[in-house]
Amino acid sequence: MTSHAENELLTHVGPGTPMGALMRQYWLPACLSSELVADGDPLRLMLLGERLIAFRDSAGRIGVLDHRCPHRCASLFFGRNEEGGLRCIYHGWKFDTAGNCLDMPNLPADQDFRSKVKAKTYRVAERNGLVYVYMGERDVAPPLPALEAALCPPGEAELWARQRQCNWLQALEGDIDTSHFSFLHTGKVTIDDIDPNHLERFQYTDRAPRYHVKRTDWGTMYAAYRPATPGNTYYRFAHFAFPFWTLFPNGPLSDNVLVQGWVPMDDTHTMAFTFSWRRKTPVLSWNREGQPLPLLDRVTETLPNTTDWFGRWRPAASRDNDYLIDREAQRTISYTGINGVFPQDSAVTEGMGEISDRTLENLAPSDLMIVLTRRRLLEAAQALRDNGTIPPLVDDPELSASARSGDLIAPEDQPWLEAYDQALGEARHPEMLRAAE
Ligand code: FES
Ligand SMILES: [Fe+2]
Repeated sequence: MTSHAENELLTHVGPGTPMGALMRQYWLPACLSSELVADGDPLRLMLLGERLIAFRDSAGRIGVLDHRCPHRCASLFFGRNEEGGLRCIYHGWKFDTAGNCLDMPNLPADQDFRSKVKAKTYRVAERNGLVYVYMGERDVAPPLPALEAALCPPGEAELWARQRQCNWLQALEGDIDTSHFSFLHTGKVTIDDIDPNHLERFQYTDRAPRYHVKRTDWGTMYAAYRPATPGNTYYRFAHFAFPFWTLFPNGPLSDNVLVQGWVPMDDTHTMAFTFSWRRKTPVLSWNREGQPLPLLDRVTETLPNTTDWFGRWRPAASRDNDYLIDREAQRTISYTGINGVFPQDSAVTEGMGEISDRTLENLAPSDLMIVLTRRRLLEAAQALRDNGTIPPLVDDPELSASARSGDLIAPEDQPWLEAYDQALGEARHPEMLRAAE
């Protein structure tokens, strides 16, 4: 069971909290590159409970600043982004992307003290369409994450951002909980609907898998398993990687190059950033006649972005409209009556409340991965707080580069980790394909 104190420690990420300190060890996905245009509008960015402003200067450099101007705290959101810096509209002080004050035009020249004033900034990196921010205190920032899907060059991977209106951990826990897939997402799908050769068909011959779980160098992993063809086992492998990444089964392990980061905006809002290799096997979406499975859209419709702190990448189906649940569809063609995988997950994870009260849970063997992941996070946050122990992957992100999720079939007498290693050895990689071209 998760106690109240453990739940508090796991879920709060603001300045001064143990989990917030853990998150600040890492580079955090902050926004899409496309959200920032040279000399374009400044962007309100909520990250780990801090109100920040991002802007791209005339030369294309990105700055991420505390939204309060260091003069008298007017919001730099209203600033003029012009000629190599962001100018506060209150008295015209101007700052570059590093936070240096370039101009104090409301002061006589002999009173100017621009060299003594600095805006609070965080370091920024940009790679493959994603902007990362480092909110930690090191002089030299650690390396960027090395997850394979996030390393796919532009054009090789799709990248989405979608907001979830609840705490980051309960959103993440949906990705490491495979048994819900055959209920929440496909509870109405039967074995007769599925192509008889489709790898994922065993989810519909047996909806109650058993689990292996394991601590890894990068976090945790599991294999959910159930009988497949005679003498064989059907596995679904997934990973959690510090501090908020998941790799979940979304097709055969041989090419399932994807990763999802559940980045806390604050304690009750989370932004999911998802990289998915374009050449991976398409996920199960059609019945054996080639018709789309009902209400299983993979593309999430989002509302137009607004300038609000929480106005970016909001799904159109939300708690404000009961996720557009169609009760007639629920009675007839769909388990939920809610259209789309992401909104279905939103309904159940947001419906728990903004921060789920985990003391009310009755955890089952199907939750073994969730239990182990919480423990791993708790231990890492406590070790950092109590002993200064640097958590996994901060200095050695390449340890997670080989992690791969997905499903596979292996002989039932083959040990699960051996089956995983063998499949990994035969897997396809974006690099490999590019080299062959
Ligand atoms: S508050 Fe920004 S220049 Fe005065
Ligand atoms: Fe789900």
